[in-house]
Amino acid sequence: MKHRIAIFASGNGSNFEAIVNAVERGELDCEVALCVCDKPGAYVLERAANHKVPTLVFKAKDYPSKRDFEKMIADRLDSLKVELVCLAGYMRIIGDELLSRYGGRIINIHPALLPAFPGAHAIRDAFEYGVKVYGVTIHHVNEEVDGGRIIRQAAVPYDGDDIDEVEALIHQTEHRLFPEAIKDYFKSK
Ligand code: GAR
Repeated sequence: MKHRIAIFASGNGSNFEAIVNAVERGELDCEVALCVCDKPGAYVLERAANHKVPTLVFKAKDYPSKRDFEKMIADRLDSLKVELVCLAGYMRIIGDELLSRYGGRIINIHPALLPAFPGAHAIRDAFEYGVKVYGVTIHHVNEEVDGGRIIRQAAVPYDGDDIDEVEALIHQTEHRLFPEAIKDYFKSK
């Protein structure tokens, strides 16, 4: 039986696409059961439609609290029997409701070598610091932001001064690493 995964994203969705492509090429024994997106109109939704992946789109402000929209999401994940949640540029902190119901089954991609440069602007922060080795981390999600156990990391050496160039290199590495980390996750089960 194929593993059922959900991918959460808020924007462009290039990592969503990389995972779906790996599934379609047969490199991952998974089915992408759902794309969850908190930004109506985000490009990831077009990508999901192109690949015929079902979507769950919501606006946080339509709910009285984070607990309420996370309950709605977790109920949908339950009904689809999702085994693993992949956060791929989902720019919200996961709250208690999802953590208590999906704890140990949520992984996140972060565009830096954690514990360096946590937070929402990791690439810019690393660039402004002047690092020569950037990187990507895939890690388990727990109550500590960008703090869970690391599954995979890769370094991205770059000694130039063009932030667009470094961003492109980091994305290339992300697109290779995320499918590998999903494979690692299921191998460890
Ligand atoms: C990725 O670079 C991901 O690492 C980052 O958002 C980008 C989403 O790109 N995530 C974070 O910064 C989380 N703190 P994508 O929408 O093209 O996949």
